[in-house]
Amino acid sequence: MSEPEQTDNIFKTGGVFANRELLRVGHVPELDRVVGRDGEVNAIGQALGPATIGGPPETTIIYGKTGTGKSLVSRCVARKAHGEAETNNVVFQHAYVDCSDYQTEAKASREMARQLATNLDADVDIPRVGIAASDYRDITWNLLEEFAVDSFVVILDEIDKLDDDELLRSLSRARESGKSETHVGAICISNKIEYRERLNERIDSSLQDNEIVFDPYDAGQLRAILENRTDAFEDSMLETDVIPKVAALSAKEHGDARKAIDTLYEAGRLAEKQGTETVTVAHVDDAVKQAEVNRFEKLVSGTTPHVKYILHALALLTADNPEQEAFRTHRIYNLYETLAEQEGSEPLSEDRVYRLLKEQSFLGVTESNHTGGGQSEGSYLEHRLLRDPKIVVEALDASGIS
Ligand SMILES: Nc1ncnc2c1ncn2[C@@H]1O[C@H](COP(=O)(O)OP(=O)(O)OP(=O)(O)O)[C@@H](O)[C@H]1O
Ligand SMILES: [Mg+2]
Repeated sequence: MSEPEQTDNIFKTGGVFANRELLRVGHVPELDRVVGRDGEVNAIGQALGPATIGGPPETTIIYGKTGTGKSLVSRCVARKAHGEAETNNVVFQHAYVDCSDYQTEAKASREMARQLATNLDADVDIPRVGIAASDYRDITWNLLEEFAVDSFVVILDEIDKLDDDELLRSLSRARESGKSETHVGAICISNKIEYRERLNERIDSSLQDNEIVFDPYDAGQLRAILENRTDAFEDSMLETDVIPKVAALSAKEHGDARKAIDTLYEAGRLAEKQGTETVTVAHVDDAVKQAEVNRFEKLVSGTTPHVKYILHALALLTADNPEQEAFRTHRIYNLYETLAEQEGSEPLSEDRVYRLLKEQSFLGVTESNHTGGGQSEGSYLEHRLLRDPKIVVEALDASGIS
């Protein structure tokens, strides 16, 4: 077989994307690209409104499932508040702290101080270690005073990851406790609904009044979000039914804009790889399927080869017997034995396989039910695969052991 030849330009891209950045994670679009969140934009705007005229921002809590625009909308509105404050001759500052990156009080407080110093262009030494969280907060209060900041808002994103509530407490009481003349407030964001109860127990009950909930997006909103980013693609690359398809699928499954954008991007990447003229609905289906395969692969990646043989056996039985849903342990065991031997592995005992199957049902991959087998047989356990067998087989193939 001959070696494949190098192309003239090994870095050549397929001409599918004009600006793929628009579809990448971490990209924060301008407020005018934010669609379908007018109510939420207004609610956060209302909370920050007083700060744009030099008054106290209202500390607010934002809840909602993943990918519903919480981080994006909060950042965009805070950025917009800057401009508004400037026209009012008010000194407004904000810091954005992602608590999943800064999980301790000290790290989060340091990041807040660091951002404020950078935004103010202040020449201040912020030690990396060796001082307490409260010292970082004192640096912050000093900066606010030195630069005569009227209002300061801290966005604490993924606040449930933070190990303590002290930072939030000190922000909501900075002025009344005499630490700062500046009006200080916080926007707290979480996708863990349990966090609400935890917070209510510990923090000032006045916070409860300022809750904003972000609902999952519906198909129409997802469509608008995706349509707003079509300039990520070259002209007429996207067939007209592609975006409606991605929007409909995503709305049905999760209402998560991040996943919807990602699906569109992956569909484009497939088209790019295949060198096709346009991105089609078939690319979308393939992208969705590939994402499922990847997810399943990840799920089983930590398990032993024997679990993979067992799942492979159940997947093959399911695919070969479309009229049947569930299979008895013994039947799965017979096929498992063959597959394990083919791979040069000593099969486990049937009892062990039975137990592993029960364990898989905990992972949500299979479901095990007792079924009456008639008088002569007594009751026995049947196992059902809860995933598309084709995806399971493909993922197991991809993981190298099947
Ligand atoms: N209304 C919208 N208009 C345009 N893009 C949006 C909108 N909502 C979300 N997005 C995009 O979807 C992605 C996810 O949004 P975002 O990060 O704000 O979600 P989140 O609610 O903070 O999710 P998580 O809880 O997982 O942090 C981002 O890339 C964002 O740019
Ligand atoms: Mg977020």
